[in-house]
Amino acid sequence: MTNTTPTAVAEEKNRYKSAKRNADYTIDQDWTSYTPEEHDRWDRLFARSRDVLKTRACPEYLEALDTLQLSASGIPNMEALSDRLEPMTGWRVVPVTDLVPDPVFFDHLANKRFPAGAFIRPESQLDYLEEPDIFHDIFGHVPLLADPVYSDFIQAYGKGGQRAMTRDCLPNLARLYWYTVEFGLVLSPDGLKLFGAGIMSSTAESVFALESDSPHRVAFDLERVMRTNYIIDDFQKTYFVIDSFEALREACAADFGPLYDRLSQASDIDPHELVPSDAVIDRGTLAYFAAKDRLAS
Ligand SMILES: [Fe+2]
Repeated sequence: MTNTTPTAVAEEKNRYKSAKRNADYTIDQDWTSYTPEEHDRWDRLFARSRDVLKTRACPEYLEALDTLQLSASGIPNMEALSDRLEPMTGWRVVPVTDLVPDPVFFDHLANKRFPAGAFIRPESQLDYLEEPDIFHDIFGHVPLLADPVYSDFIQAYGKGGQRAMTRDCLPNLARLYWYTVEFGLVLSPDGLKLFGAGIMSSTAESVFALESDSPHRVAFDLERVMRTNYIIDDFQKTYFVIDSFEALREACAADFGPLYDRLSQASDIDPHELVPSDAVIDRGTLAYFAAKDRLAS
């Protein structure tokens, strides 16, 4: 899954090597410079992902794919996409070359600007790469920004990040982002559905997260999530399930100060671990991970 070929990624990023970077790390997307092959790569990624997601993604996400016209052929032009998104919830999508520093990232989110990687993943890494490209950021993250409740949550996360920087709690807050915004599941009337962008932009994990008997699936609990380590180079061993976007927004609306005080005294939880307070939805076999460990040893 992590067949990393950094040179292929570097080649895709090369187009922005001489781009002027603004103080907030944004650049000009230079949309006309994408090649026909890159537009075709987007179309193929989009088609196969939507096929996998049409029965697995949450309804808010699927609806926004259409309302934002993300199904139109070719790599999206972020300006045009923002012009469709902004009247809905106030968000704009701004192009960047790489991950941006935490203070810059939080400032963007707090002001309803979503920074999106402008390069597209190389052909050799269609299913997964560790750094965010335009497919992950736009196909994975942007649709739910059209949902007013989710939009509130992401903006509040940005503001919470600005506060967390003053008290050395970013690792805890990052776990909230990881286990919801990137790898979250949500309960719906039709059963569990996907909403995390890290899952949406990987067809293999879209199936694994919902259908494999290997991972644990546990009801979301803010403090529990903030204590839980995560792995960045494989499927998740535990997925957390929110009841709804409203419930997520409400859980995260409180002042995190007392929570951070408790977390500073609490031990971390390993990604494979279940704890007595967990509301376990599925107890995973972890067989997929054990098999990989055997192969590696
Ligand atoms: Fe992401």
